[in-house]
Amino acid sequence: MDQGIYVGIDIGSLSSEAVLLGDEGVLAYSITNTGANPRRAADRCLEDALAKVGLDEGAISQIVATGYGRIRVPFASRQMTEITCHARGAHFLFPRTRTVIDIGGQDSKVITLNAHGAVTDFVMNDKCAAGTGRFLEVMADALETELVDMGRKSLQAKRGVPISSMCTVFAESEVISLIAEGYKEEEIIRGLHEAISKRIFRMAKRLRVQEEIALSGGVAKNQGIAEALKALFRKRINIPPEPQIVGALGAALYARDMALGKG
Ligand SMILES: Nc1ncnc2c1ncn2[C@@H]1O[C@H](COP(=O)(O)OP(=O)(O)OP(=O)(O)O)[C@@H](O)[C@H]1O
Ligand SMILES: [Mg+2]
Repeated sequence: MDQGIYVGIDIGSLSSEAVLLGDEGVLAYSITNTGANPRRAADRCLEDALAKVGLDEGAISQIVATGYGRIRVPFASRQMTEITCHARGAHFLFPRTRTVIDIGGQDSKVITLNAHGAVTDFVMNDKCAAGTGRFLEVMADALETELVDMGRKSLQAKRGVPISSMCTVFAESEVISLIAEGYKEEEIIRGLHEAISKRIFRMAKRLRVQEEIALSGGVAKNQGIAEALKALFRKRINIPPEPQIVGALGAALYARDMALGKG
């Protein structure tokens, strides 16, 4: 018998992902920029993922879409919230997960789960760029450094320079002043990571955060942020091999449930 192909698509504000799940686990995934046209991003990431395993759309059993742009995926049978999908994906990867911290391009969220993986509560910052990937992108530009190097650089610093503004516009001016005052680049970056992590830690205090914690979203690839969060939360923090696909993986798991009559 042919195996089922269950698809999860996460259309985020900055990046879009497709995960192809088979009966035995993840078969392929793809990550692309969302750009100005989420519908096209959905097509593109699905086509890329299918091409990786030499399949076409006819092979798909079920599709679930999530993320900020989920309503722009007309070919999905169901749309589900990011909260639900990130929780499901993280619980699948690390079954002892009780808290998920998702730091994306445009918002950050902390989600608590029970022992079965069901969402019990969540908090979200979607009002401003502070504490998000976008904030770090602006700071990387101000520092004339590559975003992907920020984690490594910050870990070279012995301490972080305190950053007082969290508003992106003010923090950018503050960073420029700190450079002019002669502070080392790595100390400024470490200060930025500490400031973002503190903001997320304070937000998480509104919930009952329990071990184990899983990180999701593109910012989890920044080791400097991961270390700063570990120092604050003092709990076990798991980072998936590809943190950016956790939401799409959760959506694919729901697609599998639907196809098998469980959803
Ligand atoms: N290799 C990397 N190193 C450091 N940061 C990265 C890396 N790759 C992506 N990022 C960060 O991840 C962010 C995007 O994360 P993600 O793909 O989870 O966002 P999104 O799902 O599009 O946004 P949202 O969930 O807020 O709608 C970028 O802003 C960038 O800062
Ligand atoms: Mg996202």
